[in-house]
Amino acid sequence: MFRKLKELENEACLKIKDATSIDELKEIKVSILGKKGELTTLLRSLGAVDPEERPKVGSAANALRLELEKLILGKEQLLRDASLGDKWAKEQIDISLPGRPAALGQKHPLTLVNDEIKEIFIGLGFQVAHGPEIESDYYNYEALNFPADHPARDMQDSFYITTKYLLRTHTSPVQVRVMEKLAPSLPVRIIAPGKVFRRDDDATHSPMFHQVEGLVVDQEVTFADLKGTLLLFAREMFGPEQKIRLRPSFFPFTEPSAEVDISCIMCASRGCRVCSNTGWLEILGAGMVHPRVLEVAGYDPKQVTGYAFGMGVERIAMLKYGIADLRLFFTNDLRFLKQFA
Ligand code: PHE
Repeated sequence: MFRKLKELENEACLKIKDATSIDELKEIKVSILGKKGELTTLLRSLGAVDPEERPKVGSAANALRLELEKLILGKEQLLRDASLGDKWAKEQIDISLPGRPAALGQKHPLTLVNDEIKEIFIGLGFQVAHGPEIESDYYNYEALNFPADHPARDMQDSFYITTKYLLRTHTSPVQVRVMEKLAPSLPVRIIAPGKVFRRDDDATHSPMFHQVEGLVVDQEVTFADLKGTLLLFAREMFGPEQKIRLRPSFFPFTEPSAEVDISCIMCASRGCRVCSNTGWLEILGAGMVHPRVLEVAGYDPKQVTGYAFGMGVERIAMLKYGIADLRLFFTNDLRFLKQFA
């Protein structure tokens, strides 16, 4: 019996080794291990074996079955790999074809300008703060000293969500949020970049646009500090020859208030279409923080003073790159966007 098993093993190993296709291998498997296969038949005659020998023969036969199953599996894998190889060889894939390059994106022009503004102010010791885009009436208006009947509160200008909440119309509410958090410690020196929303839509206005707010609160902060900082900013942003001009203005949360112009970079102040022949371009609003705003936010206006400014990022980007239509920033035309690498 042992001899028969050994013979069967030798034969089966050879057959498996020589199989040239998966179908052939399947046939071999059935002919040895199947119900009527050689090994199965051999085991049926176990009854004729000496009872003492029977367990040994049985376990040898089982071991052989396991071994052959393993061999068949291994061979099957080999045959599969080989047939895949054949397939690939027939397909003749041309591995010398150059691959498709992964398209690498680049920063949006508004991101570039935003980054540049941030860098300039970080260099001056400012920290970057953020506030929510959905803002309460309190932070967007009330704490900023807008009287209840101020026209800027009108539903016409703002996207109200409920009577109490709206999409912020400017980044100035971050002034109050930051001061509330820091008071009474000094100094406060932050910029707050972010999206703002107004009901406006034409070539120079978008219902969503970006601002960068600035706020400094300390002892003895003066209007001269504000002017010097803004001049330095303008020169860093637009070149060392840049001039600025401050015109009296009004904001409920600053007193005194100013609109700040830069000398027209399109015509070097000679007068052109972009600056409406004035030689100046408005880029931001600014002023000394109103005492009532300081007080509401937790500072004593007798002890400290502050200045604030808010600039439009789109505005600055349009001037810097000579872009006539603001909507280009938001229509995602790659021919436009690819010019700002
Ligand atoms: N928040 C003002 C606006 O959106 C700009 C501003 C900011 C003015 C800070 C003064 C001080 O028009």
